[in-house]
Amino acid sequence: MLLLHRAVVPGLRQACRLKSTASQLCIRACSTNDSFQSQHPSLAFTGDHSSTRGWRVVGTLLGLGAVLAYHDHRCKAAQKSPRIYTRKEVSTHCSPETRIWVTLGNEVFDVTEFVELHPGGPAKLMLAAGGPLEPFWALYAVHNQSHVRELLAEYKIGELSPEDKAPSTLKTSDPYANDPVRHPALKVNSQRPYNAESPPGLLTDNYITPNPIFFTRNHLPVPDLDPATYRLNVVGPSGRKSLSLSLADLRKFPKHEITATLQCAGNRRSEMTQVKEVRGLDWNTGAISTARWAGARLCDVLAKAGHRLSESESHVCFEGLDSDPTGTAYGASIPLARAMNPEAEVLLAYEMNGQPLSRDHGFPVRVVVPGVVAARHVKWLGKVSVEPQESFSHWQRRDYKGFSPSVDWNNVDFDSAPSIQELPIQSAITEPQEGATVESGEVTVKGYAWSGGGRAVIRVDVSLDGGLTWQTAELDGEEQRPRKAWAWRLWQLQATVPPGKKELNIICKAVDDSYNVQPDTVAPIWNLRGVLSNAWHRVRVHVAP
Ligand code: MTE
Repeated sequence: MLLLHRAVVPGLRQACRLKSTASQLCIRACSTNDSFQSQHPSLAFTGDHSSTRGWRVVGTLLGLGAVLAYHDHRCKAAQKSPRIYTRKEVSTHCSPETRIWVTLGNEVFDVTEFVELHPGGPAKLMLAAGGPLEPFWALYAVHNQSHVRELLAEYKIGELSPEDKAPSTLKTSDPYANDPVRHPALKVNSQRPYNAESPPGLLTDNYITPNPIFFTRNHLPVPDLDPATYRLNVVGPSGRKSLSLSLADLRKFPKHEITATLQCAGNRRSEMTQVKEVRGLDWNTGAISTARWAGARLCDVLAKAGHRLSESESHVCFEGLDSDPTGTAYGASIPLARAMNPEAEVLLAYEMNGQPLSRDHGFPVRVVVPGVVAARHVKWLGKVSVEPQESFSHWQRRDYKGFSPSVDWNNVDFDSAPSIQELPIQSAITEPQEGATVESGEVTVKGYAWSGGGRAVIRVDVSLDGGLTWQTAELDGEEQRPRKAWAWRLWQLQATVPPGKKELNIICKAVDDSYNVQPDTVAPIWNLRGVLSNAWHRVRVHVAP
């Protein structure tokens, strides 16, 4: 029976998914968690391909009737008396050959079929193979959400034997215990790892975002680095020695300063979520901030290490000193041509708004790549190397890429899309806020606008009537240098509220100096990771009588 189970369960799950998608019936797919199945009949498994594939697999194995009969039998059995396993037994299931089991609390899950679908990559999930998930969920606390538990419930195969239930063995020290104290005004999206946006009410009060409310995006615990012993390893070209630079060494390079805006690829993801579920933190409009950065130019440091612009297309790879339990560091890369171009002003920054970087923002040294998605601005920089290929980091190759709205987690091919580098034109309204009540007479609309690649914002159009008529906002902020417009423009418009209006449907859209303009709606740019969300920003407000 066990062999039969192993042979058909993958097919069964596919069959369950298809059945649930097609008929919207509650399928108790080898899970004892009924509520999950009925609430989420199609959770992320709507891909026609996999469903069809599933049916074919199952049909070939046994024939459909037999499958569903077996499935029903399993489900009833699982509901009545879950199968009991010992921890020792679970520990033997740690490879695709033996199947991959994990535990959470008292429950046992066979996640063999999910490993390849794991958003963090198969290798990360394999770390927990044959054992408890808790120590990893403590590190990647983003898992601890109802939809993740619900997804996992689908793979439940039984429970731990009573003598193995003692949770004390699962206690792990908190890897985030040494994270810094943060400003209470930050709008927290996740505590562990810490992710927070700048509060919308304060975001555009200053052209330069004050350090304590600069948005923060961490994937791992914040390392606590000693500036006295800190070394940056800059790998030299073959045949040449690597540089090991202290903070004092870095300060000996000419100090270069720029004002640059950093924007997370997931800024405004929450608007995509409203169209269809996406995986990622629910950022609103505040995953963007601007600072004055100072440090050594990357091109100077690379030249000192002996690197030259290469004929063959090469990449500069960065590694952070934050790492997961396997020692895998956060990493990213940018093309060598950008890194070596003095005009691109890529910095190894040690100052932010005249202060040493704070721990959350990469103390003591981070990369700043003006005009490029913030994911490439590697914090707590430990290593720089020039490679023939892009960084092999998960965040370069399996994340922060854009796809068509028809691509889902069943058919996504991360290798088919380039990594995001320069970001598209963006703007958002920060005042008034959604649902606010404005005075009749005059209304002031404020916001930010920014484009990637150094493209200057040349205009922001604002509509009070849902896009029927438009007015041009006034742009504030530093004068922008051609092709080096690294920082946002703040903008505002003072407009007359049309008499008799009870509600305003305010919209903003920006135009950059390549005449790129934001798309009008979100749905056509929806993508499974919810990145590059830059549709017209819309805010509905009431008008005081
Ligand atoms: N660098 C390291 N070492 N670790 C990280 O988790 N996050 C990246 C980038 N650099 C990250 C990193 C991402 S996704 C973003 S959006 C920016 O840092 C955020 O920078 P900030 O926290 O200073 O705003």
